Amino acid sequence: EKEETISVTFVDKDGEEQHIEVPIGMSMLEAAHENDIELEGKDSDTYLIQRFASLHLSNFVLLGFNERACEGSLACSTCHVIVMDMEYYNKLEDPADEENDMLDLAFGLTETSRLGCQVIAKPELDGIRLAIPAATRNFAVDGYVPKPH
Ligand code: FES
Repeated sequence: EKEETISVTFVDKDGEEQHIEVPIGMSMLEAAHENDIELEGKDSDTYLIQRFASLHLSNFVLLGFNERACEGSLACSTCHVIVMDMEYYNKLEDPADEENDMLDLAFGLTETSRLGCQVIAKPELDGIRLAIPAATRNFAVDGYVPKPH
């Protein structure tokens, strides 16, 4: 039997659209990963810091950075997405305080910003369009000064 899905469009910073089908219950972060869509933005500072970190830091720190993000535990803001239509934004559950706290740290915050790991596919969201901000800031690495060696 066919899994129930909704259609979701991701729009990157160049206006390039990617249409995907997302199973009900799956987060937009997970869906993006499964479809090789980079929410984090490869040219972002975060990416560069991660690259740097992976070259210079201990294994312990390396592990953290290699996760690229917190994988949905509301400890970063790399999964920041912008809901392009207010109509869809209003269909989402209100963000929890933890999500709002993380969103405050996101680069390019907008009125309809959400964290992709907290947006879960449900039938009413069929047709939702999500813009991927040009760059994101990962709170986990923000302010981090790599140690010289
Ligand atoms: Fe870290 Fe969404 S993946 S808050």
